[in-house]
Amino acid sequence: MAETPPTIAELRETAITRLQAAHDLPSTREWYREFLGDQGSVSALFKQIGALPGDQRRAFGIAVNALKAELAAALAERQSHLEASALDARIHAEQIDVTLPGRPVNRGFLHPTTRIIREICEIFGKMGFQTVEGPEVEYAKYNFDMLNIPADHPARDVWDTFHVVSEEDNIVLRTHTSPMQVRTMLQQEPPVRVVVPGRCYRFEATDATHLAMFYQVEGLAVGEGITLADLKGTLTEFARQMFGAERKTRFRCDFFPFVEPGVDFAIDCPQCGGKGCRLCKQTGWIELLGAGMVHPRVLEMVGYDTTKYTGFAFGMGPERLMLLKYGLDDIRDFYKNDTRWLRQMDRAWL
Ligand code: FA5
Repeated sequence: MAETPPTIAELRETAITRLQAAHDLPSTREWYREFLGDQGSVSALFKQIGALPGDQRRAFGIAVNALKAELAAALAERQSHLEASALDARIHAEQIDVTLPGRPVNRGFLHPTTRIIREICEIFGKMGFQTVEGPEVEYAKYNFDMLNIPADHPARDVWDTFHVVSEEDNIVLRTHTSPMQVRTMLQQEPPVRVVVPGRCYRFEATDATHLAMFYQVEGLAVGEGITLADLKGTLTEFARQMFGAERKTRFRCDFFPFVEPGVDFAIDCPQCGGKGCRLCKQTGWIELLGAGMVHPRVLEMVGYDTTKYTGFAFGMGPERLMLLKYGLDDIRDFYKNDTRWLRQMDRAWL
């Protein structure tokens, strides 16, 4: 028996139910072919018109046309709804999840020499010393002559010097930061209180404790009534802030042409407390720096009144200080640019 074609009402119900079940745009296109396309069910209804009795044709035609229009409108609505929800889903999928942990940023860090120099200058800064800097290419006059080291003086050989052009041109790479004592005093009247960090150069072979290019921090205080007691007090305070409040200090005679008297300043070994260990080479003491009362001849050369003013000066090597503070083996590690070593130093910082 041939299948009875569905009535308009049945077709409408089937079509609407199926349209609601279409959950994406391809299924709606499939639905269109099935119901509204040339071979679709609605077109089939139109084909039935010719077979109907004449008085029913008009009403049937109007009803099929109405159905076609209704289904087309329902399809358009369903498609725009599906398009909107697809867009929503995409926006949602692309949204940033602010609760996810961030990607770590590889932060840089300061070189240990920079850090120790800043620490030294900060300690002296709190005692009233201003930080100043000077040229690394220096006149021999400031590096030697005005520091009471004349050309023929044997002490000049102690500082193995890089000459910039020739020995006669009298321009050198400074062998210490002491020429800044002279430059500072030539520029200002007492009271003077400065610390001078900077690079120095010596024409010497490198080893575990020597570099050809290294840093120094110079200190200078000149004024009325400054005595050796001030020098001792200042350096003792510095050593205790840098190496711990319990440190003992030792001052012994030493010679530098630009100071009189000259001293060698040491602290009891922070590692063994003075008993003797590898760090202090069993002596119990660690020599930190050279210092002394500014030689009156130096004060005279810069035009200071030596009956009125006295002063003290000191000079230390920050890299050597670090070797002692952290018990390091080799000063050359500072400038090998091994970032693993440098980062380790950064983390070890107290
Ligand atoms: C001087 O250079 C004097 N100008 C210090 C001074 C200043 C004395 C003011 C008195 C008054 P000396 O040559 O000892 O002194 O060097 C001072 C420090 O620089 C040393 O203790 C050491 O820490 C550092 N130093 C010297 N030579 C080198 C080197 N080749 N490599 C690394 N550090 C060095």
